[in-house]
Amino acid sequence: MNSEAGTCAFAADFAKSLKPGDCVALSGELGAGKSVFARALMRALGVSDEAMPSPTFSLIQEYAGNGCKIAHMDWYRLESAEEIEMLGVYEYFQPPWITIIEWPERAPSLLADTVVEVRLENVDDFPDVRLISLADDV
Ligand SMILES: Nc1ncnc2c1ncn2[C@@H]1O[C@H](COP(=O)(O)OP(=O)(O)OP(=O)(O)O)[C@@H](O)[C@H]1O
Ligand SMILES: [Mg+2]
Repeated sequence: MNSEAGTCAFAADFAKSLKPGDCVALSGELGAGKSVFARALMRALGVSDEAMPSPTFSLIQEYAGNGCKIAHMDWYRLESAEEIEMLGVYEYFQPPWITIIEWPERAPSLLADTVVEVRLENVDDFPDVRLISLADDV
């Protein structure tokens, strides 16, 4: 995507493919745009901007969307799979929840069976460009 707006438009389109029970794993380095993507996704799923704190420091934020609930997680500060498991994440991997996880690589073993991986990558010399790739069941 050539701009933040492009990433947001892509996320909004991608949101149409999601249903309750789905888990979206957002990978990419610091500042790649995971939170930008997550917010655009949640907006498209019916969460208002006012409901989304900015920035968010919590490990799990819960939101009400259109016909679903949304759990936005950021595992960056977590060290181990056990620590994440203690948060009770499995509860979120089923309807009515749609789960969006930043830094899923902190505990890949905990991810739901049906996970869609979204990877955001920076491109050298083009600060506003991101490569976005999708993969099912990583
Ligand atoms: N094409 C683009 N898509 C997304 N974000 C972009 C793009 N171009 C520039 N940006 C900028 O990149 C930054 C992305 O920040 P963001 O907080 O979403 O990253 P992050 O991957 O969540 O980082 P962290 O790992 O620290 O949580 C924002 O400042 C945004 O404006
Ligand atoms: Mg982030």
